[in-house]
Amino acid sequence: MAGSPTIGIFGAGWVGLVTGACFADLGHDVIVRDVVPERIDALKAARTPFHEPELSDVLARNAERIHYTLEADDLASAGVLFICVQTPPTYSGDADLSYVWTALDDLPHTDERQLLVMKSTVPVGTGEKVRAALDARGLTNVGYISNPEFLAEGTAVRDFMKPDRIVIGAFEAEDGAAVEALYAGIDTPVVRTDVASAEMIKLAANAFLSTRISFINEIANVCELVGADVQSVAQGVGLDHRLGPHFFRAGVGWGGSCFGKDVSALKQLAGNSGYHFQLLAAVIEVNELQKRRVISKLEKHLGRLRGKTIAVLGLAFKPDTDDMRDAPSLVIASRLLAEGAVVRTWDPVADARDRLIGATQCATVLEAVTGADAAVIVTEWEELRQLASADVRDAMRLPLIVDGRNLLDPAETRRAGFAYEGVGRPSSPLEALPETEPAVPVSGST
Ligand SMILES: NC(=O)c1ccc[n+]([C@@H]2O[C@H](COP(=O)([O-])OP(=O)(O)OC[C@H]3O[C@@H](n4cnc5c(N)ncnc54)[C@H](O)[C@@H]3O)[C@@H](O)[C@H]2O)c1
Repeated sequence: MAGSPTIGIFGAGWVGLVTGACFADLGHDVIVRDVVPERIDALKAARTPFHEPELSDVLARNAERIHYTLEADDLASAGVLFICVQTPPTYSGDADLSYVWTALDDLPHTDERQLLVMKSTVPVGTGEKVRAALDARGLTNVGYISNPEFLAEGTAVRDFMKPDRIVIGAFEAEDGAAVEALYAGIDTPVVRTDVASAEMIKLAANAFLSTRISFINEIANVCELVGADVQSVAQGVGLDHRLGPHFFRAGVGWGGSCFGKDVSALKQLAGNSGYHFQLLAAVIEVNELQKRRVISKLEKHLGRLRGKTIAVLGLAFKPDTDDMRDAPSLVIASRLLAEGAVVRTWDPVADARDRLIGATQCATVLEAVTGADAAVIVTEWEELRQLASADVRDAMRLPLIVDGRNLLDPAETRRAGFAYEGVGRPSSPLEALPETEPAVPVSGST
């Protein structure tokens, strides 16, 4: 793009690679730096290192405009540097900024004006600290901008190209304008603000989305006690234009690399600043308990789980990704293993063999449910919509489905010969089932 600065990116993860690919698609020259050699080798060989719909196509059609490197110095000619490294939680719940600080230590030296743009999610106040550190190092030629990212895995490319808004917080107005200009071609509201407010917008957005999920999960738990159906309740409530339907589905709770850490980081940030954020403490606790309710639902139907075989269907924290960071499946499967259950897992793309030692990862749904006393839907993969089939029923030792995502129709599932337990909906016990044919074992597992 004539006159447009080269964009340098620190981090070839979900945010960095999608940012690089999409800026290249908007016509910019991009150079992406990561510190993991296998990741850079894969990208140079035109292999996308993780599962994200559309990303490989965007990278392929912009191969001329996007380059990859392990060397930070190769980014010296970039006019704008985006920091997209991970900010995982520490044991205290604060955000671990060590990757951010390491990236800053690696900044290439140039006498030209350079813009440093923080896309990683960081605590409020980080920008002030980075600004002070840059000044202390004499890097007054480097401008600092906060430009948080709101993409969701599974729809990351679409989210980047058609965002609900772009948030830009800058110390200097012209730096903010320069970053805004990079997004030319994307038609969306732009929120221009100060750095601290931009940082807070990201944390508050994730905290509120998580709050909505924990809220509807608590409504679901009460629905189970009073005989209401949370699906209808969520629909009826969500049609209120003041509330809307999004992030209002009851289930086994949220997971992923962002919600847990960002909610904790905001709660910690408030605590460190002298404010006890009670609501977020409850939001987190509700989510932890929600995952564990699957175990009591299984026990309700099966009694003690020792020696029982449970199929855990879906490992990724959400469909259309292979990301297992903070996935509810990890807690559910680990709890089952701790109870002495035999755990058989399935996922079309995520691999948990090194994380769930003792569980058997199966190649197909049918293989996972074979001989199982119950099948638990943990991730709402499309493939699982057909779970209540005669093949599955015949392969299972007991035809019990615990639908942790309310993916199936309870009445149809019952008609297909399964006992059904959803989240916040009436359940049907195994005892209520008509006699079924003895299960036919299907052999083979990975
Ligand atoms: N994943 C999401 O859905 C999402 C959405 C919005 C915001 N975020 C935020 O964006 C940030 C990145 O998240 P992610 O999911 O892309 O993380 P990720 O773990 O997928 O990717 C981070 C990458 O940065 C690399 N890296 C680490 N140190 C580096 C350095 N010094 N130089 C260059 N590369 C380095 C790592 O090797 C890794 O490949 C986090 O702060 C996250 O909270 C994530």
